[in-house]
Amino acid sequence: MSLSIHDLNTRHFAGRLSAPVLDTLSPIDRERPEVRAFTERAFRQMRAANFRAEDFTTALAHALSRVVPNILPGAWTVPVPPITATDRNRLFDEYLAHRFTANPTTRRLLDIGCGFPPHTTLDSAQRLADWQIVGADPLIPDYLVTDNNGDYAAFNAKDAMLYFQSSAIENDRWNDSHADRRATEQRFITLARDINRRTLNPIAAYERNNLRFVQAGIGEIDEPFDAIRCLNVLYYFDRAFRVKTLAWVNRCLNDGGVFLCGATAPNGSTPRYTVYRKEGETLVDAEFAMSIESILPTTLIAWYTMYDDDDTETRRHTNAMRLIRSDNDFTRDHAAAFDALLSEYGCGGRSADGYLHLASETMPQPAYRQAMRSVAARLDEAGYVDRAIETLKRAGIGAWRNAVDNIAMTPCNALDAPIP
Ligand SMILES: C[S@@+](CC[C@H](N)C(=O)[O-])C[C@H]1O[C@@H](n2cnc3c(N)ncnc32)[C@H](O)[C@@H]1O
Repeated sequence: MSLSIHDLNTRHFAGRLSAPVLDTLSPIDRERPEVRAFTERAFRQMRAANFRAEDFTTALAHALSRVVPNILPGAWTVPVPPITATDRNRLFDEYLAHRFTANPTTRRLLDIGCGFPPHTTLDSAQRLADWQIVGADPLIPDYLVTDNNGDYAAFNAKDAMLYFQSSAIENDRWNDSHADRRATEQRFITLARDINRRTLNPIAAYERNNLRFVQAGIGEIDEPFDAIRCLNVLYYFDRAFRVKTLAWVNRCLNDGGVFLCGATAPNGSTPRYTVYRKEGETLVDAEFAMSIESILPTTLIAWYTMYDDDDTETRRHTNAMRLIRSDNDFTRDHAAAFDALLSEYGCGGRSADGYLHLASETMPQPAYRQAMRSVAARLDEAGYVDRAIETLKRAGIGAWRNAVDNIAMTPCNALDAPIP
């Protein structure tokens, strides 16, 4: 049985969450089991990562109590929602551009679980213009039906509705459309009877000279690639599925190829990912990496996983965070620098009682994201990426700054301890 917010606060934060945070979290006590279990997992990870009550913002509480109920699989007609966003995975395009510099032949990238609309695959086709790219997803719709607000429902060839989707995940319309899902579904099914409303084969609009799409999932493609990426997909699945995924990736990757898998926030922040390298016949678990933002994460994505400690990148991130944050000098200096930069860029700060607050709900999203990017860049300039690397080395982990300025670690299995 799930614990109440009060009990979670007592167990994982010694009762120290702020009153506004507790107030914002309180609706979770009345939520369905899936939401309560998700919250409980998030709290367990936070404690394991040495995440402090003072750093738990009302913005994070809002994401847990208002956004999570509408984006967990139980809120959809499909087990894995197709949520995606432009710019989300740019980091991985940069990673590949650096990794494969000399380019004697055309490289081939598979973006598996690309989502719809396939914004991030389109980003890749622009950045990696000399690559051939395949975007694949089992839920590519056969047609769409759009309402007068621009919200739409996706249908398959047998006229079965796959899912409906609002144009933005945090707006009121999204919540309204989920308040009575059956009514929303029925509304789109009725609209779909008018064949003039149907946009047929909508994926075709995203094809480019170097980009094509296939309706297929993990294990259903049998072609050679130099790089495969699977982003914001595997945290929906259990460990057995990941084992099968890795075996399939090993079959498809060319020698010297890489597999990138992990998670990023929809705005591209707070990435955590594993890089596997194909060496001969073997897929080597070569590198786990995360950004400076991941040391004191402000976004929900840091805690996003559907299974108790089954998602590899979530577990590795939690364990890496704990190692870095166990260095008291680092944690104190980093928090002070972070707070000062938040104030300087007007995107947050710390109140007199020591609790962090963010302007994520009051600033326009693009300005907020830009300010948070600047904060991360300035933390790096001030030496905190290098200090985190030194801290990890002292803890016995091989650590370095990777090609995209993230904190990279090896051996990965040193970060695989289960979350207590
Ligand atoms: C949260 S979206 C991620 C989209 C995009 N990769 C991104 O990072 O924004 C997850 C996607 O995984 C897809 N998916 C579900 N089951 C899958 C499977 N067995 N193999 C590959 N993709 C799958 C879903 O259809 C969905 O589009």
